[in-house]
Amino acid sequence: MPDSWEALEAEIRRCQGCGLGAGRTNVVFGDGNRQAKVMLIGEAPGFNEDQQGVPFVGRAGKLLDDMLELIDLDRTRVYITNICKCRPPENRDPLNVEQAACIGFLRRQVALVRPRIIVCLGRIAATQLIRSDFKISREHGQWTERAGVRMMAIYHPSALLRDPSRRPDAFDDLKRLQAEILAVCPEVYGGNG
Ligand code: URA
Repeated sequence: MPDSWEALEAEIRRCQGCGLGAGRTNVVFGDGNRQAKVMLIGEAPGFNEDQQGVPFVGRAGKLLDDMLELIDLDRTRVYITNICKCRPPENRDPLNVEQAACIGFLRRQVALVRPRIIVCLGRIAATQLIRSDFKISREHGQWTERAGVRMMAIYHPSALLRDPSRRPDAFDDLKRLQAEILAVCPEVYGGNG
């Protein structure tokens, strides 16, 4: 039987595949446009996301929305989710075993969305999706391709809140993302490609 959003969401909502399931208030499944050409993938929900069941709604989420606005995007034009769908305690990085337990769900989300472009938000997503030894400070903003999908990592908005000196780099990366969208899927901006 082909996969469906309904089947996937129902499975995730009852998942206890790792230790994070027991501590969650809400599963944080995803947000935005399920037909988007551009998918943004963070690491794991924080406190606010766990409370509301929506990715990137805290301070980092506000910054992410501002970053999208800089290149004329918003949540109606992209799909946003995380490597892990449940909040790690104290907002620590998700453990490898937790990422491994959840990655199959993300792969199914990617298969359902069928994006042309995937943007990894931060190191955790990049090491999981691009290369296990990915170095975000050296390799952010660089394009690579997997199975016809263009992929790039940018700094995680939380990292930009902690260290504003990285913001000019993040701005350059966003401009590179905008240029790539215009080249690969201009319909995102209303073009006809
Ligand atoms: N950080 C993430 O990586 N994901 C969220 O949903 C919120 C904060």
